[in-house]
Amino acid sequence: MKVAILGIDGYIGWALALRLLRNGHEVVGVDSLYTRKRVEEVHSGSITPILDINKRIDEASKFFGGKINYYQGDVNDPEFIYHVIGKELPDSIVHLAEQRSAPYSMIGLRQARETLIQNMGGTINLVYAMKDLVPKAHLLKLGTMGEYGTPNIDIPEGFFEIEYNGRKDTLPFPKFAGSWYHWSKVHDSNNLMFANRLWGLRITDVMQGVVYGTRTKEISDSGLYTRFDIDEVWGTALNRFCVQAVLGMPITAYGRGDQRRGFLSLEDSIACLMLGLEKPAGENEYRVYNQFDEHYSINEIAEFVKDGGEKILNKEIEISHVPNPRLEKEQHYYNPEHKKLRELGYKPARNLREDVNDIISDVQKFSENARKYRDRVAPKTIWRESAGFLN
Ligand SMILES: NC(=O)c1ccc[n+]([C@@H]2O[C@H](COP(=O)([O-])OP(=O)(O)OC[C@H]3O[C@@H](n4cnc5c(N)ncnc54)[C@H](O)[C@@H]3O)[C@@H](O)[C@H]2O)c1
Repeated sequence: MKVAILGIDGYIGWALALRLLRNGHEVVGVDSLYTRKRVEEVHSGSITPILDINKRIDEASKFFGGKINYYQGDVNDPEFIYHVIGKELPDSIVHLAEQRSAPYSMIGLRQARETLIQNMGGTINLVYAMKDLVPKAHLLKLGTMGEYGTPNIDIPEGFFEIEYNGRKDTLPFPKFAGSWYHWSKVHDSNNLMFANRLWGLRITDVMQGVVYGTRTKEISDSGLYTRFDIDEVWGTALNRFCVQAVLGMPITAYGRGDQRRGFLSLEDSIACLMLGLEKPAGENEYRVYNQFDEHYSINEIAEFVKDGGEKILNKEIEISHVPNPRLEKEQHYYNPEHKKLRELGYKPARNLREDVNDIISDVQKFSENARKYRDRVAPKTIWRESAGFLN
């Protein structure tokens, strides 16, 4: 199968590229190096060593065989994306190439506009390019569980049956996102659903939980790390907690810490994406998967890091609570369904309680890099204080 990965230089894109190469697939890679640039802009960087894009692609081919045809450019540029899709004619396209930080989108008007315009622009370019050039190809697009928010009822996989004023229908489940980034993903999902109705494009829209971890089988074998961000804008809570533990800083949970989210390991995320590619959506099908396997509260995550860290680092680790910079419910019901990937054959291989030890060990290994960005871990981006045009 020929697979185009849009966003190949990113955390998930890189790990997926290695798996596809190992399994003998043809890989086309697209990236604008946007994340590298924007992370540098907030004076931070990946603490795992990531090679320059051309070098890492060469090294991956040497290690796993095969070749990645790499194109550098912006998915939000229609001419560029038409050129790549028309030249390569992929069987499947995995679209990961978006601004993916909720805090970044909440810094101010410039970042909010950039997130909304770039993310929606890239997706609309892509569905038009597919319709014109590869109408039978399969699109696997990464959305997020954050699109749903935290409603006080179970969350289905995309659609649900509803009865209102005595009439019934199956409708898209309402979305209630909590940042401009998450809303950009909601708008993408609506546009994908419409592109499917218009042209019958085959689309899998993946509502992915928070992905954790530094390793997959291929990364462990080759040492070709994927990025690992730790600052308040680009790093997840778990990443930040692990760095705080290693550097001897208190773990800082936002607010009460009872906020609950879905999680899955990088290894399992790649396994799910492979499954989605190997068993694609049928003709004219738009399907939605909730892709996560475990759910935990922030307090539970903090406890896992404390327990693992105290054993590995042989020191006491403190957990503290800081005012929540985000707009989110701190106590809520959370029960999203996640059956469809299991029905396709997905069996989770990892869990966070065990993997946290590997993450802490890797952070310890690269603690010199982590130390460089230690003043970037504490929250500075406050949702309600997002800067406007006049600030
Ligand atoms: N990592 C997670 O926990 C997680 C969870 C849910 C959803 N997702 C989604 O998965 C996707 C990948 O996430 P990630 O963590 O690998 O992010 P990432 O930022 O590490 O990777 C995204 C890659 O896309 C590139 N990119 C961004 N905008 C681009 C554009 N307009 N044109 C070309 N390249 C562009 C970036 O340079 C980067 O290499 C994102 O869409 C994200 O919203 C991620």
